[in-house]
Amino acid sequence: MNKVDVLLGLQWGDEGKGKIVDVLTPKYDIIARFQGGPNAGHTLEFDGIKHVLHTIPSGIFRANTLNVIGNGVVIDPVVFKKEIDALAPFNIPVKENLLISNKAHLILPTHRLLDAASEQAKGNEKIGSTLKGIGPTYMDKTGRNGIRVGDIFSPNFQEKYNALVEKHIGILGHHEGFEYDLSELEPAFFEGIDLIKSLTTIDSEHYLNKAMKEGKTILAEGAQGTLLDIDFGSYPFVTSSNTVTAGTCTGLGVAPTKIGNVIGIFKAYCTRVGSGPFPTELNDEVGEKIRAAGFEFGATTGRPRRCGWIDLPALKYAIMINGVTELNMMKSDVLDTFDTIKVCTHYTINGKKIDYLPFDINGLEIIPVYEEVKGWNCDLTKLTSMDEAPQALKDYVAYLENALEVPITIVSVGPDRKQTLRNR
Ligand code: GDP
Ligand code: IMO
Ligand code: MG
Repeated sequence: MNKVDVLLGLQWGDEGKGKIVDVLTPKYDIIARFQGGPNAGHTLEFDGIKHVLHTIPSGIFRANTLNVIGNGVVIDPVVFKKEIDALAPFNIPVKENLLISNKAHLILPTHRLLDAASEQAKGNEKIGSTLKGIGPTYMDKTGRNGIRVGDIFSPNFQEKYNALVEKHIGILGHHEGFEYDLSELEPAFFEGIDLIKSLTTIDSEHYLNKAMKEGKTILAEGAQGTLLDIDFGSYPFVTSSNTVTAGTCTGLGVAPTKIGNVIGIFKAYCTRVGSGPFPTELNDEVGEKIRAAGFEFGATTGRPRRCGWIDLPALKYAIMINGVTELNMMKSDVLDTFDTIKVCTHYTINGKKIDYLPFDINGLEIIPVYEEVKGWNCDLTKLTSMDEAPQALKDYVAYLENALEVPITIVSVGPDRKQTLRNR
């Protein structure tokens, strides 16, 4: 019986998960998303074309791979239809290759409105949500009010929808000055529902467990990153799902004993989009240089991403929580023009040197302690193997492997599928 491999982000999202899932897909029969929803933006680049996926797993461009949207995902039929429409020119057998869990929850137009109203009410304390309705939809899931994909086939779907919308309108009424026109949003929602009805919906937990028994290979594709996890991230500046390996178990119905390799992916530096603590953030020209070189703007919202140096205490924490067995380092080429690269090894808080983030860091000044590493100062984007890599890049990889105690198996040197170097 095969186990499920997991690929997930170790930082605050946007590590390059979409790219690596696409690169690894030929090794797998099935790619499955287990959490998150249209807050994700996963970019794939090949044959000179760039694709951004939000809900659909990143295996969709490979004809021999099936793609499962698991029960832990939340689906906005509006965004989903746009994604499917965007795939139309590429002759992808979506009906055959995309399977949707009956137990995945639906994002209603009013969930999006609640997200916006809640952020507006928070003022300066806002999370910096993508405003895709993620928080309110997971709240309805845990509050046992949610509507699931399987419900759309029920004769009383409309009734269920109306009842939940009524509840939401009641809550929106408490947000003084928040204006909206639901009638403008609903037609696109119901068009999306019709589209989902025309696709294949399944009991994905049965499907995946049967596939494992039959010897099929499965890769679970994480969304967001470990530091955005609802339990282990920088709460409350997090998303509303478990982005860590454990999320695979609940988001796909895979038993903990059936988890195989855990591939943790991270940038050679660090970024964050939205609010919340970021100890190694660079609010200076170095941060701007990284943003420009890495084109660090959100794939979903277009917002500029905050940039900073790599943070080893945070990475070690993420490796521990996820049980990472191998690492992939992304966007190495972004550091091509730096003479030296800084690596945060500790933090100083209140004069004390520590290597973890304490529970409550609000109001605390966190001073990162850095070690400097020599930069390679040359163009990595044309490399085709690690053998040709400059010594300084090899040294940076070895330094990180030594500090993190996990092998780095892939070094990425550009956004294209081909710009991927195997390190072992
Ligand atoms: P995801 O959410 O983890 O899938 O990552 P995003 O797609 O949101 O952001 C990663 C961005 O970096 C995308 O624009 C990718 O095309 C790009 N990218 C991925 N790997 C590399 C790399 O090694 N070098 C460079 N320069 N860009 C990369
Ligand atoms: P991918 O899968 C980066 C961030 C938002 C915000 C917080 C909560 O592309 O890596 P939410 O909309 O979930 O309520 O927002 O989480 N966030 C992401 N940041 N990449 C993502 O996904 C993200 N999904 C959510 O910016 O700070
Ligand atoms: Mg992204």
